[in-house]
Amino acid sequence: MAAISFSVNGRPYNVDTDPDCPLLYVLNDELGISGPKFGCGLAQCGACTVLLDGQPIRSCTTVVSEAAGLGVTTIEGLGTPENPHPLQQAFIQEQAAQCGYCLSGIMLYGKTFVDSNPNATQEEILDALSGLICRCHAHNRMVRALQSYAKAVKA
Ligand code: FES
Ligand code: FES
Repeated sequence: MAAISFSVNGRPYNVDTDPDCPLLYVLNDELGISGPKFGCGLAQCGACTVLLDGQPIRSCTTVVSEAAGLGVTTIEGLGTPENPHPLQQAFIQEQAAQCGYCLSGIMLYGKTFVDSNPNATQEEILDALSGLICRCHAHNRMVRALQSYAKAVKA
């Protein structure tokens, strides 16, 4: 066991845990943060995605000690029901979510890509999401939402 400090969505945490425990388990089970989901546990689906110091990572295969001293952002950190992030507004507008299980990966990878590539084509956005599995086959609506978000980024 080791004491590990990091922040999640701007809030500081100090956890006493196995340093080799997946970050996902600590977020879900110890901190009660349920946005990142367990899908495959093998870095293959993206459901567990969080941002670690601004970069998307798969928290199922990232040990919690790698987050020491860093800032984690989960999908909950994007916005609130009262004040949704423009990306969330775009997903609502396009009705892009179905069950929502994949959204941590789709939204956090999608946001990172579009923020850096606001002029990306539909094909390029689809390609950026290629490593993410949506069991509801809602990719087309999600790409439309990300195109709509790109307009907000450029505005
Ligand atoms: S649960 Fe982490 S990539 Fe699938
Ligand atoms: S919306 Fe259901 S898995 Fe993507």
